[in-house]
Amino acid sequence: MRRRTTPESTPSPRPWNAALDGLGFGGDYNPEQWPQDVRLEDLELMREAGVNVLSVAIFSWATIEPREGELDWGWLDETLDRLHGAGIRVALATATASPPPWLTRKHPEILPRLADGTVLHQGGRQSYAVTHPVHRDYALRMTTRIAERYRDHPALAVWHVDNEIGCHVPRDHSDAAAAAFRDWLRERYSTVDALNEAWGTAFWSQRYGSFDDVLPPLTAPTFANPTQQLDFHRFSSDALLDYYRDLRDTLREITPDVPVTTNLMATAHCRGMDYFAWGPELDVVANDHYTMSADPERHVDLAFSADLTRGVAGGAPWILMEHSTSAVNWQPRNTPKAPGEMLRNSLQHVARGADAVMFFQWRQSRAGAEKYHSAMVPHAGRDSDLWRDVVTLGRALRALGEVRGSRVRSRAALVMDWPSWWGSELDSHPSQDLRYMDQVQAWYRALWRLGVTTDLVPPGADLDGYDLVVLPTTYVVTDADAANVAAAAERGATVVVTYFSGIVDESDHVRLGGYPGAFRDLLGVRTEEFHPLQDGESVRVVGKAVGGQASADLWTERTRAADGTEVVASYEDGALAGRPAITRREVGSGRAWYVATRLDDAGLGALAELLVAEAGVGPEVAAPTGVEVVRRWSDDGATSWLFALNHTDADATVGAPDSPVAGVELLTGDAVEGSLVVPAGGARVVRAAG
Ligand code: GLA
Repeated sequence: MRRRTTPESTPSPRPWNAALDGLGFGGDYNPEQWPQDVRLEDLELMREAGVNVLSVAIFSWATIEPREGELDWGWLDETLDRLHGAGIRVALATATASPPPWLTRKHPEILPRLADGTVLHQGGRQSYAVTHPVHRDYALRMTTRIAERYRDHPALAVWHVDNEIGCHVPRDHSDAAAAAFRDWLRERYSTVDALNEAWGTAFWSQRYGSFDDVLPPLTAPTFANPTQQLDFHRFSSDALLDYYRDLRDTLREITPDVPVTTNLMATAHCRGMDYFAWGPELDVVANDHYTMSADPERHVDLAFSADLTRGVAGGAPWILMEHSTSAVNWQPRNTPKAPGEMLRNSLQHVARGADAVMFFQWRQSRAGAEKYHSAMVPHAGRDSDLWRDVVTLGRALRALGEVRGSRVRSRAALVMDWPSWWGSELDSHPSQDLRYMDQVQAWYRALWRLGVTTDLVPPGADLDGYDLVVLPTTYVVTDADAANVAAAAERGATVVVTYFSGIVDESDHVRLGGYPGAFRDLLGVRTEEFHPLQDGESVRVVGKAVGGQASADLWTERTRAADGTEVVASYEDGALAGRPAITRREVGSGRAWYVATRLDDAGLGALAELLVAEAGVGPEVAAPTGVEVVRRWSDDGATSWLFALNHTDADATVGAPDSPVAGVELLTGDAVEGSLVVPAGGARVVRAAG
């Protein structure tokens, strides 16, 4: 894989929103799907809604180049000129998101493959092997053409590379991928002996004599080598990132001052790409998030995604590149959003760091696979509640323009780690039921319910500013990361580690001497055996830390507490009755807690409350259950914007005598003194001094 940009040569492009007054508002614009009269009406409607940024040409390769070498730029020239005339800025795509039919027919070898050899054919989208040199050449050629044609276009604000890279094909098992995997392994291990050592190939006669013998983990008679699987996850994320970088570097050579991004899918549902490695490669982080209509707590899932995006962006403001105005078309049952939900969703993203709110897509398609996916302009047209809501949202975002550039501050960190996600869910483990994200989300939800604003960070992050650090199922741990976590406790933080953490090193080799190896000394516990529970089995956990008594399932451990480690909750029944379930140890100026089981919601809630109190990271402003309060701060800390989002069906009051809210409410212009009423299902934003 090519690496062309060195840190020294990285240009500093202008900010993506340099030419915007306030927040960005818009969506994916696909005029190639529509006749001229509709395109003209688009401009009128965009003006009415106050749209100021659009993503253009994402899926336009086959329209621009219907036959190889035959280029039709007319419609795109006209689109950009018109948008510029209307004062709208453009996130211009590389048009590479889906290769045109002529390309896959001419070069079927660029099609990706599943582990069982199934070829993913053209006819949907994203049917390309991200590592294939032929595809890469064509994609770079298209990128170069677009960049050269529009390099000086005044509408150009930011380059949008491809689209949701890895969305449908996070891992490709084609021959091209196999060759690239071998190159990646050569770079990682240098010698085949080092690879053999890392992969533990003395087991099951897997010893490799040469890198040439190595394959991706293809469908095999039984479990594939776990380190091979883990490395293939790492490689696949890197290969997709390498594709992004290659296109980005091509754009940078032509337009060094234009920022480059791509739309990530930093959500609890996107396992393929290690976005903590991706973030630093984007000039501005952009994300796509869709709520799951069947999830009654979808606003918590949204908050998680927004916080993860902010973590990937290193705390900087980011672009919400896509979400939906109402229903999508790809869930089993696609319920529309409730009245007020779109506005609340949008402002929730802004509250958590977004400087732009964009949608898929501007106008709802009348043909194709996404025609039942909502858009800013619905099938029903302008005379619709949805359109009126879009106009209202535009107005709200204009009223909030001043929050742009401000940042969220948090003293609680939840550690999220893609290698642990991949590693903890490998086959041939103590329990097939363990789901990494289930633990991460359970802890996030518990903190959200307590009104704690949480940063999502990787295990190697600078943990200095955090008083509470939670590591759910952090399975793969390097020595450096283990030391980083221990240092946070020494320095005074409350550190919480949960089951199946610290088990293996980066090669997926077990850390010997008792679990959880990497954190054994920090936590002052030693586990001799895991004791996962059968499906449907649960045990009772007793102790003040879980509110007296709680239920636990999935996982228990035969754990012993060392001298000086306090057992704060134990199992009351089951095979491990009387054994520690939760422990606590004083470490330096801080504390280290171990939670060896999966607690039910109430137990976890009680424990989280205790931890939040111990760490002193509770919310600054009192709010009723279901009302979310988040603050963004100006750089100098002189001004803050308090966002209050009422996810309940009843009007709510935020702020209490000991935590008053005062300032100006920006959506209504009202002065606020002491407490703030947030209407049922609504949102309020108060500018406060400090
Ligand atoms: C993704 C894609 C869009 C569209 C939406 C539909 O986010 O990037 O092109 O398919 O999903 O929800």
